[in-house]
Amino acid sequence: MTNSKPVISCNNVWKLFGFAPEKYLKTLSEDTSYEEIQADGYIAGVKDVSVDVFEGEMLVIMGLSGSGKSTLLRCMSRLHDITGGTIKIDDQDIMALEEKELINLRRNKMGMVFQSFGLLPHRSVLENVAFPLEMRGQSKHDRRDRALEVIKLVGLEGREDYFPRELSGGQQQRVGIARSLAIEPDIWFLDEPFSALDPLIRREMQDEFLRLQDMLGKTIIFVTHDFDEALRLADRIAIMKDGAIEQCDTPDKIVLNPATDYVAKFTQEIDTARVVRAKTLMRAGAKKSITGVALSANATIQELARTIVNDARKEFPIEDEKGKIIGSMNRQEALDVLLGDK
Ligand SMILES: Nc1ncnc2c1ncn2[C@@H]1O[C@H](COP(=O)(O)OP(=O)(O)OP(=O)(O)O)[C@@H](O)[C@H]1O
Ligand SMILES: [Mg+2]
Repeated sequence: MTNSKPVISCNNVWKLFGFAPEKYLKTLSEDTSYEEIQADGYIAGVKDVSVDVFEGEMLVIMGLSGSGKSTLLRCMSRLHDITGGTIKIDDQDIMALEEKELINLRRNKMGMVFQSFGLLPHRSVLENVAFPLEMRGQSKHDRRDRALEVIKLVGLEGREDYFPRELSGGQQQRVGIARSLAIEPDIWFLDEPFSALDPLIRREMQDEFLRLQDMLGKTIIFVTHDFDEALRLADRIAIMKDGAIEQCDTPDKIVLNPATDYVAKFTQEIDTARVVRAKTLMRAGAKKSITGVALSANATIQELARTIVNDARKEFPIEDEKGKIIGSMNRQEALDVLLGDK
């Protein structure tokens, strides 16, 4: 991820709700608290947020209800005008866009999926999925071809002529996902897309989603308040509280080193060994003295548990996907993670 360029770049972004917010923002200093702002009759939906989203990355925005997740997502897609700071998409300041350019950006570059599926009830699955293409003025024939393609992609083949009311919640959300994919967006915004689904279907949708992402490699901003979901899906997680990002890092780094008490509350219940990978504990650099079978850098400590417990070597060589030795992992440190001492 480090080699790719930011697709979305947020710098000191503020979104204040209240009367004449721009004017009010000017009166604030760096350390004005969320509560002080609230006492003045304003809500800091987004409070001084700086974050980059890189090409092909899945950034998950996590946090309790009301922490500002949806507001930040809406700012990034310019469904909200921001009060202060800048947001650039592909180096273009999105607040500087004319109405027409903005519509173009939304129609051609951004896909959006929301919690409430927002399907058109009197249109079939096929017509719902083809709708954004219709808005774009594509011919009926092209629309149909593309819609059939994405319907297949999300596993709804054979249901093209069904109406939303004839589908389960999970199936309806698949239609929402297919519809947002129809335009082949470069950036995909998803706001709690699975939260209305029951746990089993939700899990299934997460797997499906990972499969899709593997295939399509899109830049994704995904909002959830479910930490487990965040851990399963994210390349990086941004944890929000009171409009601000408290910590933004890879799942394993967050679990190993929560930056604040608020973040630690989410990580407490998590089985660290399930999240932490060998590469996180690894010291880089191949040492000749460390020999024997190498362990995979991408494997979780849980997946390596058997070796870590049974193999008495003090250090294990660690290899990348191509089988090249890239460093070593200390057994005791791995055991600490496995036994929950870390
Ligand atoms: N249009 C609005 N007008 C005024 N206040 C708003 C508006 N939209 C959001 N807020 C406030 O901004 C804060 C953040 O809201 P937001 O919807 O971003 O939270 P969230 O993290 O998405 O929560 P949830 O998990 O419940 O969806 C809340 O206090 C909310 O009341
Ligand atoms: Mg929300």
